[in-house]
Amino acid sequence: MVSLGDVKRSAATLFAQGQHLAALRLYDAIVAAAPLDFDARIRVADCALALGNPHAENVYRATAWYCLKSGHPLPALVCARVLEAHGADSSDLVAALVVNYGSESELLGKVAARVALPPETLEVPVPDVRQPAPPDALDAALARAEHATDTYKEFPQAVHEIPLLSALSEAAFKRVLGTILLKRLPPGAFVIREGESGNSFFFVAGGRLRVFATDGLGRQTPLAELGEGAVFGEMALLSAQPRSASVECLSDVDVLEVGRQSLASLADELGAVAEALHGFTRERLLGNLMATSPLFKPFNRMQQRDLLRRFTSHDVAPGTVVINEGEEGRGLFVVLSGELDVSRRASDGSAVPLGGLKTGDVFGEMALLRNARTTATVVAQRPATVLFLAREYVARIVAAVPEIKSYLEALAEDREIDNQLVMGEDDTPADERVLI
Ligand code: CMP
Repeated sequence: MVSLGDVKRSAATLFAQGQHLAALRLYDAIVAAAPLDFDARIRVADCALALGNPHAENVYRATAWYCLKSGHPLPALVCARVLEAHGADSSDLVAALVVNYGSESELLGKVAARVALPPETLEVPVPDVRQPAPPDALDAALARAEHATDTYKEFPQAVHEIPLLSALSEAAFKRVLGTILLKRLPPGAFVIREGESGNSFFFVAGGRLRVFATDGLGRQTPLAELGEGAVFGEMALLSAQPRSASVECLSDVDVLEVGRQSLASLADELGAVAEALHGFTRERLLGNLMATSPLFKPFNRMQQRDLLRRFTSHDVAPGTVVINEGEEGRGLFVVLSGELDVSRRASDGSAVPLGGLKTGDVFGEMALLRNARTTATVVAQRPATVLFLAREYVARIVAAVPEIKSYLEALAEDREIDNQLVMGEDDTPADERVLI
């Protein structure tokens, strides 16, 4: 007996090595022990297809119907896309998807449920795949996978919406479904690499992925794990900025890509989708800020949430002056998204650029710490969202939490040194400067 999770991992490895019959036997063992494992059924069909067996089609179709009824629309769409890729008709499946999960569906409900996948810890009896397969192994596996849920009756009365898509009009939903691309990836593959440009976002239809950010020293900060139904890749699309994190497959993964073409097909409903995507982005940016910013590091989760609640959030248009050089320091700012430029007035009145601020950067600390007037102007370069914490509250935190005090002091000191160099105000003799 081996756990279902381990059997799947072994099967995925065998499949990747081109040992399709051996992989099929392991997936079949899962279907025999856990007939509700639609993922294993799809994989049986994948193996059969790789072995050139045309009956795989029946398995995709039967599994897709089960998925539609059991609250798993995205794996159903995966089956439909695979069928289409092999020249089979899937219009009945796509039509049912729209009827069951479109905005006019009577099945969508608040008290919705989905039939869960069997637990990864379930013990599964497995064959020894080093031994030759019985002659009917392929046919028997296909028959089992096709009919695994024929007698299953406990389908939920109401199903969950598909995020974003179920809110569309039926016509737009249909158009988008027609343009969504399926990507099937092995464990270890990257769907997104931090820093690349991005023109699409994704739904997870199956498998698990991890999201992580990498700092300048190559250290990774885990940000999230994603599974069926999750949306990702929306940030770069909305902000026209590089990908903010990497997303790597932890298992065999099916993702559905919504690209430029899909978005164009949304026509006048694009605004509603963009707004919903903004909602995802905001939550994630706040989560990432708490996970990565030194400002939040000294605190536990609850304290971090509490601190975050004390900030006010401000959307600023390009050109907005957030800090005006010479004014009194009003508080501390954190860039949630977008970019801002920092500059200082030279003696001849011209503005000297000092640098830029991007997601996660803190600013406004210099005047606060020194109780002096602000020494630079900060202007939004593109649409940005900044969080603001009033000076009285910053003073209380700085007094109470030494780590924050030293973080802000070090930041202010580094910036002042950089600024003096840029402005040519550095009075250290050149031969005493230490360059690193
Ligand atoms: P994007 O920046 O386009 O590419 C990387 C994606 O990782 C990003 O969009 C988000 O969709 C996703 N992401 C970033 N942070 C998180 C998080 N905390 N939780 C879930 N997903 C995230």
